[in-house]
This record gives sequence, C-alpha cells and structure tokens, in this order.
Amino acid sequence: MDKIRINGGRPLSGEVLISGAKNSALPCIAATLLTAEPVWLQNAPRRVRDVTTIILLLEHLGINASWEGDVLRLEADSIDEFEAPYDMVKTMRASVLVLGPLVARFGKAVVSLPGGCAIGARPIDMHLKGLEALGATISIEHGYVNASANKLRGAHYRFPNVTVTGTENLVLAASLAEGETILENCAIEPEVGDVIALIRKMGAKITGDDKSTLRIQGVAALHGAEHSIIPDRIEAGTFLMAGAITGGKIAVKRCCPEHLTAAIGKLEENGCRIERGKNEILIESPEVLKPADVETQPYPLFPTDLQAQYMAVMTQAAGISTIHETIFENRFMHVGELQRMRADIKIHGHIAEVHGRTPLSGASVMATDLRASASLILAGLVAEGTTVIQRVYHIDRGYERIEEKLRGLGAHIERIS
Ligand code: EPU
Repeated sequence: MDKIRINGGRPLSGEVLISGAKNSALPCIAATLLTAEPVWLQNAPRRVRDVTTIILLLEHLGINASWEGDVLRLEADSIDEFEAPYDMVKTMRASVLVLGPLVARFGKAVVSLPGGCAIGARPIDMHLKGLEALGATISIEHGYVNASANKLRGAHYRFPNVTVTGTENLVLAASLAEGETILENCAIEPEVGDVIALIRKMGAKITGDDKSTLRIQGVAALHGAEHSIIPDRIEAGTFLMAGAITGGKIAVKRCCPEHLTAAIGKLEENGCRIERGKNEILIESPEVLKPADVETQPYPLFPTDLQAQYMAVMTQAAGISTIHETIFENRFMHVGELQRMRADIKIHGHIAEVHGRTPLSGASVMATDLRASASLILAGLVAEGTTVIQRVYHIDRGYERIEEKLRGLGAHIERIS
C-alpha cells in the first residue's frame, strides 16, 4: 500500500492549478443517466478515485464511458442493469446519486444502503422521503433500497435539514417527473448549482424563487449536452491552507474565489494577506498566524470539508482557536493523529480547542478519511523531521496527484510503496 513521506519545514511558493470539483463531477456523471443521448463533461477530475468509482458503477449499469484528455463522454443509451451493488456502494456513498435518475427514467432502482462511514452515521432518509413524495414506492430489504414508480409525479417537498446529495438526487429525479415539483430548504452549495446548470443544458426546466427553493417543471425526456465542471473549492481551500501553515506565498490558479468566501475570511482573520483575482487567489502568510474560532455550516458558511485542514493550520496560530463541527457527528478522527505530532488539541463534544502555537514533530500517522488525510499532509509540511502518512488511498479519493502539486510548490513530499 502506498504511503506519503514528507520532510517538513519549508515555506511553499509558486503557483498551483486547481482541478475540476469531485463533488460536482459525481452528481453530473450520475445525471447523464437521465438521457439516452451523449453528454460531454469537461474539466472532469480524471485521476480522482471517486470519479473512477462512479464511472465503474455506471458502466456496470450499461453506460458507455470514454475519455479524451479531461473530457469525459458518457452515453446511457443501453442501460440494462438497475442495481448498484453493495461492493460498489460501500466504497463510495455518493453511489446513492444513481437512485433518483434510475427511478425517474426507468421506473426502477435497487441501490445498496451505504451504511455508516468514518465521519458519522450518514443516513439517506431524506433522499428516500423525497422520492416517496414524488410517488416512488420504496422498500428496504436485505440492506438494499428498492425504488419503483410507473411515473414520478411532481410534488411539494421540504427538506427537514440541508442535504447536498439529497438535494441533487431529488432535483435529478424531479426533472423527469410529470408536472411541477417544488423543493424547499435545498442545499445551495456551488456543486448543486453546477449539476442544475448541466441538466438545464440537457433541457430540464428549473427555476428558483431564491436558490434554496427550487421549482422544477418535469419534462418527458432530456437530451445530450456539453458542460464544464466547476473548479474544486475544497482543493483550492486546501492549497490556501498549505500556504498559510508553511509561512508561504502561493498563487492558487483556475479556481472560483467567490466559492471560498468563508474560508478566505477566516484566513484573513488569521492575518494572511489575500488577493482575489477573477480565477485565482494569492495568499501570503504572516510571520505569526492569529487564532480564530470557526463553526462548520452549509454553504455559504465555512465548509465541513475544510475543517480538518483548518485545524492543522490553527496548531500554528499563537493562541487558542475553537473549531465547532456541526455537520457530521464524528469528524475529528484526525485529532488523535495530530496529537501524535505534538499538537495540543482538546475535544469537548463537537468542539475542538486548539492551543497554538506548538511546533509539530514528524511522525508515522494514519489517514482515516479523505479530508483527515489532507490535514495530516498539511501538518507534515510544517513539522520538524519526517512524516509518513499511511492509508493514502483516502487522499486519492478526492485529490488529483496532491504530492505532485505540492512538489511544484517546493514541498519535499513523495509517494512511496
Ligand atoms: N443527513 C441525514 N439524512 C439524509 C441526508 C443527510 O440525516 O438523508 C445528514 C448527514 O448525516 C449529515 C448532514 O445531514 O449530518 C449533511 O449531509 P449531506 O447529505 O449534506 O452530505 P452528503 O450529501 O452525503 C456531501 C459531500 C460531502 C460533504 C457534505 C457536506 C458529496 C459527494 N459529498 O455529502 O463531501 O462533506 O456534502 O457538505 O457531495 C468530502 O468530499 O470529503 C465529503 C465528505
């Protein structure tokens, strides 16, 4: 199994190019099940493992997928399988995104229940209740969701809580339902907006009173389209934090600064000097970072997917920072590993109290999930000595060649077998 080895202590400098967003590519790829015509997705993050996984799942269902550079062509004209098996879903929860499109276009879907994962229980009850509101019959047997419907019907559904993939699943399903669907309390993450932009190009009729209320006028069929995936705001935020933690000065290019307002605001509060361009962000870290308090919340507030990385940065701030995780019940798995690197962090329920600045000390550590691995890499970049991160397959799920990109910024980092 591969590991990542880092010799820390070097400020980063230079430019880094951001890839297409994983969490946008996944629902966009699932959306191509809604039409028999080909769809071309540009700027798809080809080397992200989760993208490979969802393509394998769609190929299992009968889709034709091919790459030309970073353009992914998908054609769902011969779907002959309607089951997403446990072995595939267990490796990636976002597999549940095939549920809405399959039941909307083919009237049936069998999808393994994802089960818990490293960051919490993560139920899919809102996906299922929403589909039931659209007229699907849902039963759960032997660990699988069975969904069927002669034809989905437009309905009024209010999400009790904000759910990103739940919103995406229902928008995809409602686009082929008969009549109008009104969805309230929708997630407004840029990735949701991106999949809506794609299916509008495919002929879906979607408007929003404001963005959290969506009105979807179902159509009989959707058609092919071309679409470019938005840049990955979490990858961009991770590199900004790499600049901040190492005392560096870097340009994060090919990103959308407006998608990172909350994270940039925090880094400015920490004393970083940040310049926003149209598609780039320049960050210069101060000599000493100031502490700050942060609470994870749905977009546009501070994202849970940057919480672990920000915690690593706060170990280098002079003073006490608090980090409140409100989205997932168990997203502090990186804390124990950061403590092994001599970070001073105390956990009180869902709040982590980070006492800085502590010089970190390189160690052998274990990645537990995608963003936890990114946090450990950031810690390794500033730690004295060598850090070896095990189970790096977690990082490959969501970052394209992160070690190569960091090496381009002057980090001493390599992948070892
Ligand atoms: N929830 C329910 N019931 C549901 C759905 C969600 O109780 O039916 C709860 C979850 O357990 C969680 C909260 O609602 O406590 C929010 O979960 P959400 O459904 O929004 O998460 P998700 O759609 O499963 C996506 C991203 C995650 C990201 C979260 C929150 C994708 C493929 N995944 O997950 O990304 O953390 O939204 O922003 O879009 C990552 O990239 O590392 C990652 C975990």
